[in-house]
Amino acid sequence: CGIIGIVGNQPVADRLIESLKRLEYRGYDSAGIAGQVDGVLQRRRAPGKLRELESVLAHEPLIATTGIGHTRWATHGAPTLRNAHPHIVGKVAVVHNGIIENFAELKAELIAAGREFQSDTDTEVVAHLLDAELATGLAPLEAFKATLDRLRGAFALCVLIGGEDEVILAARNGPPLAVGYGDGEMFVGSDGLALGPFTNRVAYLHDGDYVILNHTGAKIFDQAGQVADRPIKIVPASAVLMEKGNYRHFMEKEIHDQPEGCQRTIAAYVDPITARAAVPGNIDWAALDRIQIVACGTSYIAGMVGRYLIEQLADLPVDVEIASEFRYRQPAIRASALVIAMSQSGETADTLAALRYCQEKGMKSAVVVNATESTMAREVDVVWPIHCGPEIGVASTKAFTAQVSVMIALAIAAAKARGRIDDAEEQRLVKVLLEAPRLIAEAIGLEDAIKDIAAEVARARDVLYLGRGPMSALALEGALKLKEISYIHAEGYAAGELKHGPIALVDEQTPIVILAPYDSWFEKSASNMSEVMARGGQVIFITDTEGARHAPAGAKVVITAPACDPLVSALVMSAPIQLLAYHVAVHKGADVDQPRNLAKSVTVE
Ligand code: G6P
Repeated sequence: CGIIGIVGNQPVADRLIESLKRLEYRGYDSAGIAGQVDGVLQRRRAPGKLRELESVLAHEPLIATTGIGHTRWATHGAPTLRNAHPHIVGKVAVVHNGIIENFAELKAELIAAGREFQSDTDTEVVAHLLDAELATGLAPLEAFKATLDRLRGAFALCVLIGGEDEVILAARNGPPLAVGYGDGEMFVGSDGLALGPFTNRVAYLHDGDYVILNHTGAKIFDQAGQVADRPIKIVPASAVLMEKGNYRHFMEKEIHDQPEGCQRTIAAYVDPITARAAVPGNIDWAALDRIQIVACGTSYIAGMVGRYLIEQLADLPVDVEIASEFRYRQPAIRASALVIAMSQSGETADTLAALRYCQEKGMKSAVVVNATESTMAREVDVVWPIHCGPEIGVASTKAFTAQVSVMIALAIAAAKARGRIDDAEEQRLVKVLLEAPRLIAEAIGLEDAIKDIAAEVARARDVLYLGRGPMSALALEGALKLKEISYIHAEGYAAGELKHGPIALVDEQTPIVILAPYDSWFEKSASNMSEVMARGGQVIFITDTEGARHAPAGAKVVITAPACDPLVSALVMSAPIQLLAYHVAVHKGADVDQPRNLAKSVTVE
């Protein structure tokens, strides 16, 4: 969910909406705002996307100068009007991101005390608890602290109190919150992006912090209740830009942004003059005996690509695991390993927990991250930023290829430091990496050819993606992209596994996307292609120029990407699978940038 609060000196409703638009990537199941009108709390809410709330406001404006807003990704309670935030109880209006884990016991206690609930959410207990504390005569800040002390779980909260016209209370325990400093106005929101239209002066709350805001400033307290000094930082303008330009969707724009995003990222990890790897942070690669990568979703797939390259080039064992599994299975780990979290947001709850688990075991830690002010970035020993700019489309594209770019640079650096490659080979590999953005641009040029097959793929019920080596990871990514935005069932498989199950799915109606550049795995993938075609499968063969020459005849379509060194094939081959998913979704009329049920930043387990 995304939250925003404004203690303003001019009408606030439009500005809350403007900010919520920038927070929709965190969820869009329902939305709502609340404000003080003559000392009385009022709210407007609507299930569905923000435009529904906008039409409610068009009929029933809310005229207030202090207000809070919320866009929801449902956890407890269906995405209906009654469960939409803000929740108002007595003198309290609250918006919440996260999960109150002990809500059931608190709710039972409140019901026993005679309180009635209007929603199925965990959030409403916060409003009741705070209202009850206020009723005992406590001042707002004390009542808020007393309420926070009773909550377990992960939450970011933002609260209005009826009659306290110029006050917002907020707290962070898990999901991020940032305080924005304006001129005679103050802001609090889930991230710097949400505050972008109002101010670029931002302080990031730490876990356990809570804050009281009025027109002139904010007083921040740490978990122990001590006044805390959180430095004000200037958010760079590039981080708050959010324009689609001439593109129809953010996803389309972000696919096309990739050459530049990767180029900027690569430039931060190699020295183009000497053609040497120049990875920031003091990692002693030679002394490492293992790397543990933890991540979720597309970031996990970027980690898988990284594993292939690091093990192959640097002869360094790499484990990569889904963070939600890793954190709960009590993995056997050694302090001598390096943990690398892969997370665009730097806030994903499971990845953060897995990272902390490794840190507690004494491991040195790093994060490959887009949001450099995020929790993970603050808590690790080494921050490896990607430089692709903020990604708005929920289905990740440019952040994925930027993450992969970093992994390639790490693989080269580790290989060199461990004596597995000599100077000349390091320089050759760095030059290959520096050339990759141009090849990605060429691969994006395949868009028209891909558009031509989108209509047919859009009719499919199931789609299979196959590949070997790094392409087996990309097969997972291709399938993930397609299901995320087009709602077509898709599966990605290591092509060698075809005969052990998925081949049973093959028939004339099932498109099978085979990813096979002309690398050491090519012959094997070509054989799998023949096996599929022998059973009537309709193959979409995505390869490179050399692969196209050697491909068995009979593919329905051959998409020919530019030839490239295997080091960067995951970068070059990403564009065709992203474009395929994109054009299939567009053909189906799906909401590409905001697919149903998903959110970009998931700060709950
Ligand atoms: C969500 C997003 C994915 C992302 C994943 C992990 O599922 O839709 O695009 O890969 O979260 O997010 P992170 O911010 O940790 O990379």
